[in-house]
Amino acid sequence: MNKSLSSRGNRASKTVLRTDMDMFFEAVDNQYDKEKNLTGAFPLNVAENRLTWNILSAKIKEITTEKDIPEWVAGYTSGQGHPSFRASVARFLTRFLTKCPMDENKFAFSAGATSVIEMTALVLGDPGDVMAFCAPSYPVYKQDIGNIAELERYDIITHHDISDLQNGLILEISHLEAAKKDIESQGKRFKAFVLTTPDNPTGGIYSYEKLWEVSSWCIENEVHLIVNEIYGLSLIDTSHPAIRSDYSTSNHFASFAQIMEVRQNDYLHLWYAFSKDFGVSGFRVGLVYSHNDIFIKAYENLNYSHLVSNYTQWILEEVLNDHAFVKSYIETNQKTLTEAYIIVVNALKSVDISYVPSYGSLFIWLDLSAFLKKETIKAEQKFWLKLYKKTGVLLTPGDGFGHTKRGLFRMVYPFIPLEELEVAMKRFTKFLKKRSKS
Ligand SMILES: Cc1ncc(COP(=O)(O)O)c(C=O)c1O
Repeated sequence: MNKSLSSRGNRASKTVLRTDMDMFFEAVDNQYDKEKNLTGAFPLNVAENRLTWNILSAKIKEITTEKDIPEWVAGYTSGQGHPSFRASVARFLTRFLTKCPMDENKFAFSAGATSVIEMTALVLGDPGDVMAFCAPSYPVYKQDIGNIAELERYDIITHHDISDLQNGLILEISHLEAAKKDIESQGKRFKAFVLTTPDNPTGGIYSYEKLWEVSSWCIENEVHLIVNEIYGLSLIDTSHPAIRSDYSTSNHFASFAQIMEVRQNDYLHLWYAFSKDFGVSGFRVGLVYSHNDIFIKAYENLNYSHLVSNYTQWILEEVLNDHAFVKSYIETNQKTLTEAYIIVVNALKSVDISYVPSYGSLFIWLDLSAFLKKETIKAEQKFWLKLYKKTGVLLTPGDGFGHTKRGLFRMVYPFIPLEELEVAMKRFTKFLKKRSKS
């Protein structure tokens, strides 16, 4: 215990955001380059899409060159986000993501989804309350709800093997009932349930019917249901001839906002951010949308330390107002994502590695458990490091996603250009071929 810090500060000094971040930066510093660094690394562990920045950066250059900066950018503005920015985002979401009316007064913006998750936890729960997630799930949810708001993460296990997800994600009301019972038997409150769709790490999506069923249970049990659609526009073209046989059921993304619009209920909320679909995690723009007016009011009152800079709001507003640009950007992004996805899937098929067929997100969730000596966290770490050392391919290890099975890894395929992804996959499959499966 360091006396110069609070107990919170002491805890923070020992709680890293994620264990693979230093390795990510190391791999980025030594990244493969066909001219300058042929033996370089492929950082495929952090969720960033670097494939379309050239398109967006050209648009931003045009805006900053041609337009005058409005006066409101220099001053304080609403804690929910500037009104003209909110209106622009409402029009954008209605047309491209949610396909239903969005009310600009029901938004609050914070500095990235990370901030939005933290703020939501702070407003909805008290320390010790529980937020549940379906395993495997985004590791950093734990810190986002725990660091400041002091809520606890609970992982609901709905399956064990990757093969269980070949026909889509699994979630039944019985899983929620069992979680509630377990949480309450520990004397805790089941305060909120979070679904990510498309999902991190599996790339699965929840159907409209499933979201409806789950929302009914949540409303009845007074558990907040929050749906995170941060990957909502990063969709894979599942009808592409190279992959369509992977999908046995036709499942289409449907935004939870549609259900919120019908039900108008205080227990339903939506998260979105521009970090992934627009490849601008550095802009730090996330949002919560809710028909719960008192929740939005409380959020606004606490939000001043989390605001998005007005300059960023203005740039994004200008980008989003140009619907012709946005339409073409999304189409190009989805086409490129699908091409990159196919490169990886073909490589995995060539060495007989199981994966979950993805509907969207920036990931492939794959099973390398057959290469572990034992299905333990230690063996998983050892294999992960060896793969990185020998091939430069840096994946996200499954530990931290809250799942039961060891030897599952996440690959972020749109971090590098397609030609480099081909090289990475050659090294990756060569490495696996050399090692016989146990
Ligand atoms: C599901 C999910 N939510 C939130 C975040 C954090 O996003 P942001 O960079 O907008 O804070 C991520 C980033 O990987 C994510 O995958």
